[in-house]
Amino acid sequence: MEVTISRPTHKKLMLVSGRAYPELAEEVAALLGVALVPTEIREFPDGEVYCRVAESVRGCDVFVIQSHGYPVNGWIMEQLILLDSLKRASAKRISAVVPYYGYSRQDKKSRGREPISARLMADLYKTAGATRLMSVDLHAAQIQGFFDGPVDHLFAMPIFCDYIIDKYDTSEFTVVTPDAGRIRVADNWSDRLSAPLAIIHKRRDPAQANVVHVNEVVGRVRGRTCLLVDDMIGTGGTLVQASEALFDNGAAKVIVCATHPVLSGPAVDQLKNSRISEVVVMNTLPVPAEKRFDTLTVLSIAPLLARAIREVFEDGSVTRLFDGAA
Ligand code: R5P
Repeated sequence: MEVTISRPTHKKLMLVSGRAYPELAEEVAALLGVALVPTEIREFPDGEVYCRVAESVRGCDVFVIQSHGYPVNGWIMEQLILLDSLKRASAKRISAVVPYYGYSRQDKKSRGREPISARLMADLYKTAGATRLMSVDLHAAQIQGFFDGPVDHLFAMPIFCDYIIDKYDTSEFTVVTPDAGRIRVADNWSDRLSAPLAIIHKRRDPAQANVVHVNEVVGRVRGRTCLLVDDMIGTGGTLVQASEALFDNGAAKVIVCATHPVLSGPAVDQLKNSRISEVVVMNTLPVPAEKRFDTLTVLSIAPLLARAIREVFEDGSVTRLFDGAA
């Protein structure tokens, strides 16, 4: 019997979302001009997760978007199970789109008998079926090397800078990093804004997780508007203490740009009661109404995610999205 090819075999882009932040996935889908693939995701009575995509994905280029907000372990597990279902359904290429990559702060052993959870995460994603990872402002660039496959590391800095340049006169700005380990990233901000750079040397108390001690400010901050840049806001301790150190050293004003609004524990209270004039974050994680405050500005990461997904799908260049920016 002769079997003829009756259907065209061109690639199809499919966007699947977990339940962590469907509004962001919808925004990305609208920008791409696609509909989210319908899914059935639910819990069994014992709490285990069940996931099934409602359409065939055979031969497709599938992007599975899920951000690792609270409850982080549940959202990670859900994305892993979605990936597994797609792998077993013969998707051709499976990209895990993780705007905020959970466990990224656990990227090395600081003491004996500690895990490297960021590496374990990469292994789990590979095993589940991800052939590619896409994320935004990873806590440490070396996390890309943990995943055995391509990683598209996107940077929010150009979006932040466009916002800042549009709103402020940056001639009196000093870019400040609260973490000497992220000085290369801060250097890119400094170049982009043509502003000098300062560093806050921060030490943590090894006996108390989440307790931060700010030490000295290195650089010109007196009379300047200090733009504190960081990858995330957890409890807010790092940024609030950094801002106080800047004011103690004569800063005129402090503005914060931090990509991921994890906003755990006392973050909202600490930030809204601080002397920071504006806190600018990306919507890589949901920021519910009760966590919003007057000086908080949330910018959208969706256009960048959509452009990067389009580049990957069309075998274009993700690097060119950042030419001169990273
Ligand atoms: C630290 O290495 C990170 O870049 C952030 O500065 C830190 O995780 C923020 O955490 P928190 O807001 O709890 O101080």
